[in-house]
This record gives sequence, C-alpha cells and structure tokens, in this order.
Amino acid sequence: MTSYFDLKDFLLDQKYHLYIAADAQPFLNKRVKGTMTTQVAAGGVSVALEPVARAGNAVFISRGKTIEDKEILDKNGIITVNHKDPYTLRRIFLPQEDLDGYYNGFSNQTLWPLCHVAFETPIFSNIWYEKYKKVNSEFAHALETTPYNGAEKAAKVYFINDYQLSLVPSFLKKTPETIISLFWHIPWPTWEVFRILPQKKEILQSLLQCDFLAFHRDYHVRNFFSTLRRELAVRIDEEKKTVHFGNHATVVKSLPMGIDTDVIKSLSTPEDSGLLTHFIKSIFRVEKEKIPHEDFFNNTKVILGVDRLDYTKGLTMRLTALERFLEKYPRFLGNVSYVGFLALSRENIPSYQMLKKTVREKAREINKRFGTKQWKPVHLLPGVFSRQELISLYTHAAVCLVTPLDDGMNLVSKEFVIASSTTTNPGALVLSQFAGSATDLTSALIVNAYDTEETADAIAQGLSMDQNERKERIMRMAATLEEQSVYAWSKEFLRQALAAAKENRGVNV
Ligand code: G6P
Repeated sequence: MTSYFDLKDFLLDQKYHLYIAADAQPFLNKRVKGTMTTQVAAGGVSVALEPVARAGNAVFISRGKTIEDKEILDKNGIITVNHKDPYTLRRIFLPQEDLDGYYNGFSNQTLWPLCHVAFETPIFSNIWYEKYKKVNSEFAHALETTPYNGAEKAAKVYFINDYQLSLVPSFLKKTPETIISLFWHIPWPTWEVFRILPQKKEILQSLLQCDFLAFHRDYHVRNFFSTLRRELAVRIDEEKKTVHFGNHATVVKSLPMGIDTDVIKSLSTPEDSGLLTHFIKSIFRVEKEKIPHEDFFNNTKVILGVDRLDYTKGLTMRLTALERFLEKYPRFLGNVSYVGFLALSRENIPSYQMLKKTVREKAREINKRFGTKQWKPVHLLPGVFSRQELISLYTHAAVCLVTPLDDGMNLVSKEFVIASSTTTNPGALVLSQFAGSATDLTSALIVNAYDTEETADAIAQGLSMDQNERKERIMRMAATLEEQSVYAWSKEFLRQALAAAKENRGVNV
C-alpha cells in the first residue's frame, strides 16, 4: 500500500515542481466571533488533493470565496500553508459576472448536466462560454506566474483537475520543461450526447494539448475515444492508449481515484461520545443520560445518506425507494430512520433550488404518511458537516445508501467502507451501479438507482443481513481500497504524466 510518506519520498526525488489547479479550494477562511478560522469541507476532490499538495510542496491554484480568503493572502495573492509540510496556495477571485458565466453557467449548467446521465437539460450560452474561457485563461496565467517556494528544479508538472478547467491546457505555453496533465473527475458521456455541445471542438482540442489525460473508469476513456474519432482527425493507438492529433500525442488512461484510508481509520473512533451524543440528542431528541449509544443504535437502525445536494445524486428517487420500503416492509416501521446529510452547493442555480424544494416536500410527505408522534422516518440535515461527524456516523449506520444516477467515482461509498471496517458490527452498503466506485466495491448490494422497487428490497436485505455477512462484505471491499489509496492514485498519475512526456516529446527530467 502506498502511504503519504511514500508519495512524499517519490515527489522529493522528482526533478520537477508540482503545480495543482482545481476550482474548489482545499479549505476556506472565515472569521467566527472575531477569530480567523479555517474550514475544510467534509469531502470532495480538493480536500483529497490537499495532502498531495503537502507531500509535493506544491503550488495549489484555486478559486477563493470569502472576504477572509482574500484578507489572509500576501500582496502577491498567495499564502504559504503552514503545515509541517508546507505548500503554496494561490487564490483567484472572480467578479460576480465572471462567476456567473464560468461557474454557475458553463461549468454547472452546461458541462455538468451534459456529462451526467441525469436527464437535466444542459443550457448553452455564448456569454457563459466567453466567461469560462476568460477564467480558464486566468488559471493558466496563475499556473505560469506563481513562484515556487523551494529549491530550483528543472521542470514543472501542471496537474489540472476537472471539467471547470478544460480550456486551461490551451492557454499554457508549451515548452520542453513543462508537462501538462489533466484529470477529468466526472463521467465522459457517449458521443451522441457530447456532440450537441456547440463548443465541443475547442474543448477537445484543448484536452489534446495535454501530455497525459485521465478518467476514473474505462468506459469514460472509451466514450472519449469515440467522441474524438467522430469529431476530430485523430489517430488513436489503442494499445498505447495514445491519441495523435496534429503533431502532438496525448496518452489517455483510466485511473480510479482512492481515499486516504489511514486518515479515515484514525477518525473512526467508535467510542467518541461527544459527536454521537450531540447527534442522538439533536436529531432524535433523546437525552444523552438516558440511553447509551450502542443501545440507541440497536433500537433505532439508522439508514444513512451523505451527499452534495445535486440532481445527479438521485435523492428524489432514493426517497421514493424509502417510501416503497416502508410500505412493503411494515415490520421496520417505528424502528428505522433515514438520516440524510445534504451538503449545499451551487445554490444560485435554479435547478438546485428546485431540487431542494422537491426533496424537502418528498420527505415531508413520507413523514406525514408513516410518521407517528414518537417516530419520524426521514430526517434531512442540510448544512456543513465535519469529516469527523460523518465518519462517527458511518461506523454506527445499519445501512448506507449511495444511489447516484450517474457519478464519476463517489468517494462517500469508499469512506463508508473504510470507516465500517474498523467496527465489529458494520453496516451494509447499498450502491448504485451508476457510481464509478461500483466497479471497485463489488461486495456492496448493487442496485439500479432508477429501480425504486429494487432499491427498497436492497434496503430491507441490508437491514436483515447477519453480522458475519456484513463484516465479510465490508472487509473484502476494504482490502481492495487499501491497495488504491489517494497516494497510490496521485503517484501513478504523475508517473504516467512524466512517462508520456518522455515517450512522446523526449522531455528529459
Ligand atoms: C464534483 C466535481 C468537483 C467539485 C465538487 C464540488 O465532485 O467533480 O470538481 O469540486 O463536485 O462541487 P462545487 O461546485 O460545490 O464546488
């Protein structure tokens, strides 16, 4: 298994500076009661990339959000994150119109619905695209101009992340000392879908300026190749996974992202009473003194959901499945509750505002239909949560429901497995076949997230499964995940990027 320290040793030996770019930042700054605080999201791509930045003493370029995010930077717009292993964070700040076009518009109302099969119609606007282009050029400029804090090295590797930054490669100067790589974290759709995008050629051409490009799953690579074949005059060497376009070659591979299993395990402290007491008290309104945790979770089985409030996560469908489950399996009435953590995101986009309403209404409907004075079947908790809070619940949930309609990977399902592997009485994972992680987590109860009858049955199966079987399934999946840590993933990504630049351009670092 590759650890943080293996990655650090590996990066120390390299003859290049590591530059990471991602839209979301690894943390934000906020003043709470007069004191400056650092807030880390409960998960996501940038939180996963943060230890990679530390291990590589990297420069990390991302988008700042709060006033305090700006306040804390030096006059060059950067801050050295003072960790034992420091890295340089540069934040880009966008005026509202740029944010609307780049983030709320082209990234999240055009590309996001286009790439996920969730039947949300993408919206096309040239004004948005122009802003997207502008902001992408700003990210490229920041990559090229942010000074590196450390001994001089011969070359630079740009590790660009995700669909918000697809045009960055086209804005970067190509020199023998720079290696350009990009990881596309969301699905790549079939050509029949991608072809409707008016700016498709510019985006494909930009991606083909990378030395190395990667996706989570093989089918994303296959879809990407078929899109290229239909749209551009490319030659694809299937064996070497190399696309030749003009006089440039790009290696394209699948590389499923993993999680930091050590951190999750260290946060999985089943005895941690503070958070659980708070949880039991605030959600279920039970006084802590009255009931020990274990008894509480034996009497009330918790079905857990942890999601960003996003239509791709299949939340309405999931609640419909829960309703069917309560209807079909009345023996669970009164002793099982669904607790859905909802991280709010993209709140200015109308489809996300609509979804919030729909999900709330559906929950209300179920509670009205099945709830009693003493028992509420559905608890929705929109807000911001700490990793620690979520992980302490993973270890106590009877079932975890991860049912996206389409998802590039899905790290929640992986974190649940690792957290559960630390307890003797783990829960069962019900996982959508449309999550990228379903290829790795084959011992989950795999469902078609659109099939609410099947999902209802899987919930009942998970709740009825004996402890040995639950433990065996979790341990099998945990063993797979131990091999694919986020460190193994990033090390392999960077190794492949360098190999591709050496092979195709003779880059010599
Ligand atoms: C997905 C995307 C990431 C993005 C994250 C959070 O996982 O692939 O690129 O950072 O969602 O999205 P948000 O728009 O809330 O930052």
